[in-house]
Amino acid sequence: MGENTTIRWLLFFFMPALFVYGLLHVMSSKPAQAKKTKELTAQEEAGRQVYNKFCVGCHGVNGDGKSKAAEFFIVKPPNFHTAVFRWKSTPAGTLPTDEDLLHILNWGIPQTPMPSFKLMPEVQKRAVIAYIKTFSDRWEKEQPGESVYKNIKRPAYFGTPESINRGKKIYATNCTSCHGENGQGDGPLAKTLPVPPTDLTYPVRAAGPKPEDTFRVLTVGLEGSPMPSFGHLSERDRWDLVSYIAYLMNKGK
Ligand code: HEC
Ligand code: HEC
Repeated sequence: MGENTTIRWLLFFFMPALFVYGLLHVMSSKPAQAKKTKELTAQEEAGRQVYNKFCVGCHGVNGDGKSKAAEFFIVKPPNFHTAVFRWKSTPAGTLPTDEDLLHILNWGIPQTPMPSFKLMPEVQKRAVIAYIKTFSDRWEKEQPGESVYKNIKRPAYFGTPESINRGKKIYATNCTSCHGENGQGDGPLAKTLPVPPTDLTYPVRAAGPKPEDTFRVLTVGLEGSPMPSFGHLSERDRWDLVSYIAYLMNKGK
């Protein structure tokens, strides 16, 4: 076999092989998608259909929060691939409980574009929760953290004038820099933050309808957001703050 023939054979057989290899390589390195290794379960598949109908427009095809709509939002949708959630009752660094996620779907996140899906049947909500978990393998490796709701008890002094007044003072030292003197979200740091501080005089709370929900935010904070945890303040101080916030909500602007 002459040298020319060898080269011709090489070109003839190996070049297409190389091309196919390259193509396969490109195809297999597509952006991360829901569950690559195992097939979706029936519940996850049902959830995928709910997701593609009701969530995809804002949360994106890949669940990474990148969508046309999100470009216009001030508060961006989360990246489900990191499984870091703000609105949960478990400590920072841990996964939320299913009840936390169900609570978000029922209540929505007022003052942000995230709507309430209260009218959606619960089986569909549970299915879409199962589906968004397929975006991160943290859900296969870790357990959700312990919900702080277990240990929250509303005290008798909640909402009393004395508690509101104490809360007002604690608020003045800890919260005005972001939430502003009157709670309207216009503190001196507000403009420098990636997420605007909540207007606490707005009559609906993002965390949920109950004072316990606000107490939970003060206790665990909002992971991945500028809102810190105030778990270092005494339980009394945190409840007095909740009294004061409830007062701000009811009194209007
Ligand atoms: C109109 C746009 C929009 C739609 C539709 C929407 N979301 Fe959201 N969602 C958002 C935005 C924006 C946020 C971020 C709000 C925040 O963190 O304060 C969010 C937050 C969330 C969170 C909480 C994340 C956290 O950090 O705690 C979950 C869970 C969620 N969405 C699930 C869903 C599911 C499931 C659907 C469909 C059934 C859906 N969303 C539909 C815009 C939307
Ligand atoms: C460093 C700035 C900062 C400080 C200090 C701060 N917050 Fe916040 N807070 C925020 C931001 C930003 C949000 C909105 C977070 C989001 O949407 O992700 C928020 C959200 C909240 C929420 C949730 C609102 C809702 O509707 O459920 C409550 C309640 C709250 N803050 C109360 C307080 C109180 C009380 C203090 C003082 C003890 C305080 N914050 C101190 C930045 C701050």
